[in-house]
Amino acid sequence: MRVVSGIQPTGNPHLGNYLGAIKRWAEMQHETECLIFLADLHAITVYNDPAQLAATIREAAATLIACGIDPEKAILFNQARVPAHAELAWLLNCTARVGWLNRMTQFKEKSGKNREGVSVGLYAYPVLQAADVLLYQATHVPIGEDQKQHLELARDIATKFNADYGVELFTLPEPLIGDTAARIMSLRDGAAKMSKSDPSDMSRINLTDDSDTIAQKVRKAKTDPEPLPETLEGLDSRPEAKNLVGIYAALAGRETQEVLSEFAGQGFGAFKPALAELAIEALRPIRARLGELMAHPDEIDRILERGSGQAAMLARPTLAAAYQALGLPIGR
Ligand code: TYM
Repeated sequence: MRVVSGIQPTGNPHLGNYLGAIKRWAEMQHETECLIFLADLHAITVYNDPAQLAATIREAAATLIACGIDPEKAILFNQARVPAHAELAWLLNCTARVGWLNRMTQFKEKSGKNREGVSVGLYAYPVLQAADVLLYQATHVPIGEDQKQHLELARDIATKFNADYGVELFTLPEPLIGDTAARIMSLRDGAAKMSKSDPSDMSRINLTDDSDTIAQKVRKAKTDPEPLPETLEGLDSRPEAKNLVGIYAALAGRETQEVLSEFAGQGFGAFKPALAELAIEALRPIRARLGELMAHPDEIDRILERGSGQAAMLARPTLAAAYQALGLPIGR
């Protein structure tokens, strides 16, 4: 079993990233080999200020460590330092089909009405993501629900490459999507996912928010006037209520049903303060640790450099075998 997953280093990581992905990586690193990376090559598919990017990558790495990713246990690195990602992505661009990429919903959302004006990189983005996991023969990829389609594409690319060139080179990776936190929604709109790109900061809880800000965001979160129901079905047509109960369950590491059993019949006047308290206590140590880590930026750079070296070693045989399969031997 080998776990591989990544996060874009731009924008503030939020509670959706934490519960949907990062917290689960931190748990899995104790059980299995994990490669966790900052998807900086994905970040440049839209314009990013070069002067800021290096600092952003460092801060994102520090955030992952503050959330519990231990660089002694997991291999922590950034994509750009491992050129095999970009290389394999090119090889896989020649296997992926235009029709497959045309179906990617995230590209449709991100390009919107400006389809002709976005970068080729934004379009080919899911092929790079396929390379990210296939390069390491990942067996499992812990992600939020929004990345599921990209992972299915990675499986399609792997299957076609193996079939076209008559090899059993790429392992088909399985998505690992959590139950309670697969899709954390905006605090302002139960139909939109919590996202770094939402213009309203009130829509998300950032991992760097202080306790007062968290309390205020939870207090102002959109809800309905009904008390909490006894069963999950009672949340079906109440997206905002469902989201807050889901966040509570994920933070507490409990089943949603258990949380409902505790709060059934109570209104949000009682539930919101309990949720705010839980979120504040969960994020307080992360924020404190992040502050300590950011005081030593050189140390973060060293960690990324070391992790990238380890990742590059693991990537080499698969990259060489991919060239070999294509009739372009490069040696090992
Ligand atoms: P990114 O940076 O948008 O998000 C990182 C992880 O957080 C999850 N996530 C969420 N989970 C639950 N609720 C939410 N509201 C929420 N928002 C984000 C994402 O599903 C993801 O798991 N393309 C990827 C990065 C990537 C990658 C990869 C991931 C590049 N290569 C290879 C896995 C494997 C991205 O932009 O994630």
